[in-house]
Amino acid sequence: MHSEAVAARLLENMGTAVLVFDSRMQLTYLNHAGEVMLAHSARHACGRSVRELVKNAEVLADQLAAALASEQVLSHRGCLLELPDAPKLRVNCTFTSITDDDGQPCVLVELRQIDYQLRIEQEEHLITQQQATHELVRGLAHEIKNPLGGLRGAAQLLEREIKDDELREYTQIIIGEADRLRALMDSMLGPNSLPKIQAVNIHEVLERVRGLVQAEAGGKLRFHHDYDPSLPDLQADPDLLMQAVLNIMRNAAQALGNDGDITVRTRIQRNFNIGIRKHRLVARIDITDNGPGIDEVLRKQIFYPMITGRSDGTGLGLSIAQALISRHQGLIECSSEPGETVFTILLPLKGKHES
Ligand SMILES: Nc1ncnc2c1ncn2[C@@H]1O[C@H](COP(=O)(O)OP(=O)(O)OP(=O)(O)O)[C@@H](O)[C@H]1O
Ligand SMILES: [Mg+2]
Repeated sequence: MHSEAVAARLLENMGTAVLVFDSRMQLTYLNHAGEVMLAHSARHACGRSVRELVKNAEVLADQLAAALASEQVLSHRGCLLELPDAPKLRVNCTFTSITDDDGQPCVLVELRQIDYQLRIEQEEHLITQQQATHELVRGLAHEIKNPLGGLRGAAQLLEREIKDDELREYTQIIIGEADRLRALMDSMLGPNSLPKIQAVNIHEVLERVRGLVQAEAGGKLRFHHDYDPSLPDLQADPDLLMQAVLNIMRNAAQALGNDGDITVRTRIQRNFNIGIRKHRLVARIDITDNGPGIDEVLRKQIFYPMITGRSDGTGLGLSIAQALISRHQGLIECSSEPGETVFTILLPLKGKHES
């Protein structure tokens, strides 16, 4: 094979994002890893200035200018990149001054995400944690539901024998509480039928949930959407997806006290990892609110059942949502700071031929 073609193929298959900026600090080349990192295609990004591509462009612009001036290799460690269309990234960068085909000076930029491995480890931890919790809940629910049935039956028998209405109130309490506990166990277990997988337009699901949450909130919430119309249909159970999204969006509405902004964004991610599994295409749904955020201690536990930060919460919403999404081999992640809480649903997009 021609050496130029080999070089091009190597560049496109590298894990490091490679960018080339000309002397006017406009992007002239972006490899595939760079497309994934910036969440932009090379076609879309080339020709744009560094300030259009990165929100906090000063860090890169200074280094680009220094590299152009000094013709040296410069490096910058732990640089935080704020991208307009992707989550914040911490990267190590290298800037090398080179010349293009016409002898014009330009800068080769290599970006390596340093929290990439950390993210994979955290996601694996989340997946294992979720599986362990589900197993625990299943075992526990089984042990509780059996004696509960007996308890309820006995209370019903007793009720028939009791003639005194005042005493019947007690058996009513036993029956009522047994029913409540059973309903709680059922909702902790999630739906027990097999998912009904079909082609689902995720935007229709999102819009239906939006309508529901807006109706509940009485119209004070402001919804914004930023949908990627090229997102193909998902192979999923629409009811389960709707329940998961509803649990997340309802939390956002509650955190906002039904008065604030909720933004729903969809994107396609190519060659994207969910935990250690790499998928060719992944649908990414970000549900962002500008509420008070979740404090760090609570944030580490919110996907566990019965963990709540609300006085009237049962703490089941997110653990159910996570279980529903994981039935689709997906994952829910959360990042939060005051004024910006993002719940991200990642769902692998399977081709019709894939299982
Ligand atoms: N968008 C958000 N902003 C702030 N806090 C949140 C947000 N989403 C979730 N939380 C916090 O996470 C906790 C757990 O949420 P989860 O949905 O699991 O339970 P819940 O809302 O308390 O109860 P349930 O959903 O079962 O009625 C919430 O109580 C809340 O403190
Ligand atoms: Mg909730």
